[in-house]
Amino acid sequence: MRSRAGHRHQLKQSGVKAMFGRLSIAVIVFVICAVSFLSTIKSTSRSFSQSEIKVDTLWGTAASGEWRPSSAPRTAWPPPLTETNGYLRVRCNGGLNQQRSAICNAVLAARIMNATLVLPELDANSFWRDDSGFHGIYDVEHFIKSLRYDVKIVESIPEIRKNGKIKKIKAFQIRPPRDAPISWYTTFALEKMKEHSAIYLTPFSHRLAEEIDNPEYQRLRCRVNYHALRFKPHIMELSNTIVNRLRAQGHFMAIHLRFEMDMLAFAGCFDIFTLEEQKILKKYRQENFAAKKLVYSERRAIGKCPLTPEEVGLILRSMGFDNSTRIYLAAGELFGGNRFMKPFRSLFPRLENHSTVDTTGELATNTHGLLGSAVDYMVCLLADIFMPTYDGPKQLRK
Ligand SMILES: *[C@@H]1O[C@H](CO)[C@@H](O)[C@H](O)[C@H]1NC(C)=O
Ligand SMILES: *[C@@H]1O[C@H](CO)[C@@H](O)[C@H](O)[C@H]1NC(C)=O
Ligand SMILES: *[C@@H]1O[C@H](CO)[C@@H](O)[C@H](O)[C@H]1NC(C)=O
Repeated sequence: MRSRAGHRHQLKQSGVKAMFGRLSIAVIVFVICAVSFLSTIKSTSRSFSQSEIKVDTLWGTAASGEWRPSSAPRTAWPPPLTETNGYLRVRCNGGLNQQRSAICNAVLAARIMNATLVLPELDANSFWRDDSGFHGIYDVEHFIKSLRYDVKIVESIPEIRKNGKIKKIKAFQIRPPRDAPISWYTTFALEKMKEHSAIYLTPFSHRLAEEIDNPEYQRLRCRVNYHALRFKPHIMELSNTIVNRLRAQGHFMAIHLRFEMDMLAFAGCFDIFTLEEQKILKKYRQENFAAKKLVYSERRAIGKCPLTPEEVGLILRSMGFDNSTRIYLAAGELFGGNRFMKPFRSLFPRLENHSTVDTTGELATNTHGLLGSAVDYMVCLLADIFMPTYDGPKQLRK
């Protein structure tokens, strides 16, 4: 659990963990939750009383420990060279968070290669049904300007004159290996870039190793994620309106309840569903993800499944949050419907989501798009407490 200020500290910390701040928060949350859950079970048997928990302290700021914000360079960091090795185009796939981390990687890759980055393309796949692209979500001018001492960025690939004709440079398409090391970028990819003047890396999620033994490179990723990537003004306004409206009634907590069809299908978490529901999940899995043998009956037991809404509710209740707690749910459509939400709702009846708080109606018509995710992202960032319920596909690689 993090309060507003604590959360921000957490988000700006240095090193590998900072880049995946959200994941580390998730881990911390789970440790805290597990410890408190276990101790509650123990203490209930000693006639545990609710008054032992001071709810106010739960809403307070968590100590940041030794962590401090760090995204500025601490050693010599020369500006990008005026001469470029070529142009780097990438196509970022996945949802909002995956795309964000891909954008961080694209900037770092361009820096490593002394290349000029072409504004990253955001995938408009069938699930996200959103083709607004980078321009539709992020503040392009701010992005380019705030990274001017790190990489050169252009909005589109330039035109060249060849045999008297003007045409765009054709980027050589490459499918990068998963978690490619830096050496892949400075050898194979660089060679192709020099040969063709431009390369196009697609797909581009998780295509640069997370762990890189160079703190300055990690700081650059932080600069991109926490400083350069700013949502467009109207998204910030919409998010602020929602947060102000929620806060007008006091504290609120935001939960990313990742109990959605795509994640359940991807994780292979079928066992708690009816046969009919399992059919839907299995079909989705077949149609959208690479075949991989999973023992479905084991997935939950080995911790690969998102928490169910009821489990989330029980954890919060055991920590001391009572039924007056206001909770903003950041998520798409929850799978399994009311059957799974009912136990959660009975523990915490004061639930909101972006459609219930937004009165402009703008989000109602854009439930799958990146706009809704962007607003949810901001509301989670600004909430008094943010709780993720799942640390994402990363742990699923095993
Ligand atoms: C990029 O430029 C820096 C500074 O001149 C140089 O040290 C580095 O070797 C260059 N890297 C590549 C891949 O060209
Ligand atoms: C919350 O719980 C109390 C008992 O602890 C109950 O009296 C009250 O009706 C509940 N409120 C709601 C909104 O469910
Ligand atoms: C938001 O909450 C309302 C009312 O509880 C519900 O009908 C709607 O489906 C929710 N929207 C999303 C995107 O979950």
